[in-house]
Amino acid sequence: MEIKLARNMGFCFGVKRAIGIARQTRKETKEKVWTLGHIIHNPQVVKKLEKEGIIAAENLSEIDTGYVIIRSHGVHPRILKKVRERNLKEVDATCPLVKKAQEKAKQLVSEGYETFVIGEKEHPEVISIVGGTNGRIRVIDSVKNLEIKNSKVGLVVQTTQSQKILQEVAAFLLPKVLEFKVFNTICDVTSKRQREVRKLAKKSDIMIVVGGKKSANTSRLAAIAKGEGCITYHIEEAGEIKEEWFTDVKRVGVASGASTPDWIINEVIDKLKKIDKNEVNIDINKEEVTT
Ligand code: F3S
Repeated sequence: MEIKLARNMGFCFGVKRAIGIARQTRKETKEKVWTLGHIIHNPQVVKKLEKEGIIAAENLSEIDTGYVIIRSHGVHPRILKKVRERNLKEVDATCPLVKKAQEKAKQLVSEGYETFVIGEKEHPEVISIVGGTNGRIRVIDSVKNLEIKNSKVGLVVQTTQSQKILQEVAAFLLPKVLEFKVFNTICDVTSKRQREVRKLAKKSDIMIVVGGKKSANTSRLAAIAKGEGCITYHIEEAGEIKEEWFTDVKRVGVASGASTPDWIINEVIDKLKKIDKNEVNIDINKEEVTT
């Protein structure tokens, strides 16, 4: 069995930065350190951080005193206001690329564009983008039932969406309006990983995509691999891998989301090595992808 790894795996810079900020805050204070919601969508990392004294609160009401880390996805301004009203100490770990999407959405609204964001309505990042405009933009996930009222339309995108959906929506809107302003706020890390997964899936018998089940970027990678017709398993941990998946499998592609730590990826690779009874045939390569 040959194992091909995607070139870009493990934490993206936004996730590394957020975890670094949380750990640094923990180091510098004796007060309680909280994250509002899970700092990233990876339960294993959240558990590890809790052991280090960085507690994940589901709601602001659970937090009594201390520091509140604003996670990489950002937060609705209404929540930020409450944090300040309660005299909690706020530490902003919002990914700069999410910030950019928030700012571009605000800019479009202030310039009078009827503005849309392509994304998942319930995702914290999208909630933060919509919240930043006081709810003056609409969330869409396809061109289905997409109606516009204005001849001046603006568009931003959740950072983890695919270029394909952006192209579809932009192509749909462009002929219908007089003025169209698009900010492609899909993050580069996401785009690169999506291209790699597409390429890997095409040449693999099966794909293993490693990352949190609630992680939007990991789920999208798995969907892309499936879309290429490749049998795909989205797993969070090595323990989920089943031997029967590998009957007659010659080549396995492995990719990970941006919130998957290296130690989980290494455990997955070790498990794959053990599954192949004839270890001498294992060939682990970093997939070269032209971007
Ligand atoms: Fe930021 Fe992109 Fe990572 S938006 S958190 S660098 S996946």
